[in-house]
Amino acid sequence: MILVTGATGALGALIAEQLAGRDDTVLGTRDPQQPQASLPDRRIDFDHPDTLITGFEGVNVLLLISAGYGEDDVVIARHDAAIDAAEKAGVEHVVYTSLTADGDHLPYALPHRWTERRLQESTMAWTILRNGLYAELLAWLAAPSADGRITAPLGEGRLAAVVRADLADVAVRVAVEASDHAGRVYELVGEQAIGGTDLAHAQGPHVAYEPETLAQARARIAASGAEPFQVPMLVGTYSAIAAGFMSRTGGDLRQLLGREPRSSLAAALA
Ligand SMILES: NC(=O)c1ccc[n+]([C@@H]2O[C@H](COP(=O)([O-])OP(=O)(O)OC[C@H]3O[C@@H](n4cnc5c(N)ncnc54)[C@H](OP(=O)(O)O)[C@@H]3O)[C@@H](O)[C@H]2O)c1
Repeated sequence: MILVTGATGALGALIAEQLAGRDDTVLGTRDPQQPQASLPDRRIDFDHPDTLITGFEGVNVLLLISAGYGEDDVVIARHDAAIDAAEKAGVEHVVYTSLTADGDHLPYALPHRWTERRLQESTMAWTILRNGLYAELLAWLAAPSADGRITAPLGEGRLAAVVRADLADVAVRVAVEASDHAGRVYELVGEQAIGGTDLAHAQGPHVAYEPETLAQARARIAASGAEPFQVPMLVGTYSAIAAGFMSRTGGDLRQLLGREPRSSLAAALA
């Protein structure tokens, strides 16, 4: 049996859609009352370890979607609880959605690397999907204002953005064929590196890219009502892209999809 955690999140819902109708799959979510794809569901909340041992009962392959919004200690505690419970419940294989190697400078890299190490030291087989940053996230980070200005501290930096639906397709394939992917770490970045100028040009002459400084962005984000941990998270994301650490394309995406990846630029403009 396959169990997918985070099943009502954006990535989890895309995965659930594709697995719908399979008789060997259940969805894990903090709130099983929410409408789901036509699959049974169970309450899975990493913040409530009591939901995990029974929740993982009978599961062979656990598709562990990172629950990455929070301070590092919170995220590490969540993932530790999930892996600990999976070991105790007799799960055979964990597929974990991690972060691309080029994301090592991102403020939220540490809990991902901690989780990878914890899995590699576990009693279970594992596969690590090192997901790149979503094209949909770039669309949000560099959204034009009503008067057509993209104001973001990206400098001339570009992001090898990847379409979330492609990451869902890969996660489904790997979960279904898990034993073929045991012990593998896959790099899943996009094939197009996109920056502020590219986004502006693609939207026509009425849109202009106006780089701001990191200090300006920090003040803007802090004033927006963001939670304290979100401010360095977002500023650090801009900074890593601007410094050129997130532009490397290639990796394992095309091979695991078995087809051309979806257009990252189209997804970033949608
Ligand atoms: N690569 C990127 O660009 C990028 C961008 C943003 C986030 N991420 C990471 O990738 C993950 C999936 O992305 P996404 O787009 O699906 O994000 P999302 O739409 O925000 O969904 C995250 C889901 O994580 C689950 N979750 C949160 N706290 C949890 C907990 N305590 N226990 C169990 N599950 C919990 C929830 O699922 P339920 O509500 O169903 O319980 C939540 O809906 C995120 O959680 C984050 O770690 C990656």
